[in-house]
Amino acid sequence: MSRKRTVVLISGRGSNMTALIAAAVDPTYPAEIVGVISDRANAAGLGIAQSRGIATKIIQRADHPSKDAYDAAIDAALTGFGADIVALAGYMRILGRGLVEKWQGRMVNIHPALLPAFKGLDTHARAIRAGVRIHGCSVHFVTPEMDDGPIIAQAAVPVMVGDNEDSLAARVLKAEHRLYPLALGLVAEGKARMEKGHTVLAHFADDADNATSVVMAPDPLREETDLEQLARITP
Ligand code: GRF
Repeated sequence: MSRKRTVVLISGRGSNMTALIAAAVDPTYPAEIVGVISDRANAAGLGIAQSRGIATKIIQRADHPSKDAYDAAIDAALTGFGADIVALAGYMRILGRGLVEKWQGRMVNIHPALLPAFKGLDTHARAIRAGVRIHGCSVHFVTPEMDDGPIIAQAAVPVMVGDNEDSLAARVLKAEHRLYPLALGLVAEGKARMEKGHTVLAHFADDADNATSVVMAPDPLREETDLEQLARITP
């Protein structure tokens, strides 16, 4: 099986990008990370990618006369990398409809909330204010509407008494680092595909696969509380 050439788009820290790179070190992982694009020259993730021997490119909006020209530069870079899949990981720009539609079904994003709840920014603060007891993260196919595309996989974590935005963000981030490699792997293997605006998931013939892919309670959380029933990763 040929591994799917994946380009990661970032704007900052790049911890999800790092998790994807780490997963792809395994030669049996179905995706390889062939390039990283940042819209910010000072994104910390760029140095991490370079230290792992991955090609990087900085494409800044300010260097392009229009949004269309910026999108065209991104598209050209993706084509230049020979991308099969595009993974947005903390990429803070909204890509134009034309670009998104061109890559639809091959472009994924991670969002730090259980969609369709808490689209947009400041998800952890909003979750605390709303008083939800369960929060988490979602990986979804990208569509032109922000944080609106079909969900591929989700991980749930509890909101604990005494949590603040930072403690909750840290718990969700741990789950993100488990979830994104799982979800990208599903897409790269063709086990999750986008059809007519929905995600179609393969049925895992093997129960062992179902066990690892269907329910995953992040280990560090199990120590905090009994999460066997609570923290789960779908599909
Ligand atoms: C993550 O919480 C991701 O879900 C959101 O932005 C954050 C990026 O963090 N889209 P990092 O750059 O991957 O560390």
